[in-house]
Amino acid sequence: MERIMNVNGKVCVVTGGARGIGREIVDRFAAGGAKKVYACDVNIEALEGCAENVAPYVLNVTDVAAIAKFTDDVLAADGAIDVLVNNAGITRDGLLQNTSDEEWNLVVGINLKGVFNVTRAIAPGMVNAGSGSIINMASVVGVDGNIGQTNYSATKAGVIGMTKTWSKEFARKGAQVRVNALAPGFIATPMTEKVPQKVLDIMVGNTVLGRMGTPEDIANAAMFFASDMSSFITGQVLKVDGGLKL
Ligand SMILES: NC(=O)c1ccc[n+]([C@@H]2O[C@H](COP(=O)([O-])OP(=O)(O)OC[C@H]3O[C@@H](n4cnc5c(N)ncnc54)[C@H](O)[C@@H]3O)[C@@H](O)[C@H]2O)c1
Repeated sequence: MERIMNVNGKVCVVTGGARGIGREIVDRFAAGGAKKVYACDVNIEALEGCAENVAPYVLNVTDVAAIAKFTDDVLAADGAIDVLVNNAGITRDGLLQNTSDEEWNLVVGINLKGVFNVTRAIAPGMVNAGSGSIINMASVVGVDGNIGQTNYSATKAGVIGMTKTWSKEFARKGAQVRVNALAPGFIATPMTEKVPQKVLDIMVGNTVLGRMGTPEDIANAAMFFASDMSSFITGQVLKVDGGLKL
C-alpha cells in the first residue's frame, strides 16, 4: 500500500465543488493524483481555469433525474466512481419560531435529501465494484446543536445517521465501501461570511486552537478519508474544529 496520502488514479465526485470547502477538496484531489475530479455545482463559473483533471459539471443535488444522467455519463466515460464527497450545503439560520416552512424545506431538501439523492445514485456502482469511499460533510452542530440552526443542525444530524447506516449497508458481502463523515467547526468560507462577527468572535474564543478553520484544514481530512490510508476506518464522524466547545 502507498504510504503517502493520495488519490492516485481515482475518479472523484465532489458536490458543491465550485467554492469554499468543496473547491479546496477539488483542488486537493486534483493535485493529489486523481484521474479525474468532477466538481459538481449549481454554478460552475468559478471553476474556469482549473486543473486539467478537473471536470466542472452543472448539477443540482435536488434534481434526481440530472443526478441519474450524471452518474450514467461518468460511469460511461470513466468506468467507476471511487470517491464521493457529499459537500453541497446551505444555511438559512434563525431561531425556531422565526424559521419558515420554506426555510425548513430548502435546507432539508439540499443538505439532507441531496445527500440521499446523490448517494442513492452513486453507491450501487461502488458496491458492485467492491470498493469506494464516501465522505459526507456534516458539522459540529449536527453533534452538539447550535442556537439559531434548527433546520441546519437537523440535516447534519441526519447526515451522521445516514453515514452510520450506509457504512453497514454498503459493506455487505465483503465490499470495501467506506462511509465517513466530517464535522467541521467554524471555517472561513463564503458560508460563514454571513455570520455576525460578534458570533464568530465567541466561537473563536471557545476554540482551543484560538482560530477559525480554513478550507485546507477540511481538505486535509477529506484527503485522508478518500485515500487508502484510512482503509480500515468506516462509520466514523471526525470533528475538525480546533477543539471547539459549543
Ligand atoms: N463553513 C463552515 O464553517 C462549515 C462548518 C461545518 C460544515 N460546513 C459544511 O461544509 C459544506 C461546504 O460549506 P462551505 O462553507 O464551503 O459553503 P459555501 O457556501 O462556501 O459553498 C457551498 C457550495 O455548495 C453549492 N451548492 C449549494 N446548493 C447546491 C445544490 N443544490 N446543488 C449543488 N451545489 C450546491 C454552492 O453553489 C457553493 O458552491 C456544507 O455542507 C456546509 O454545511 C461548513
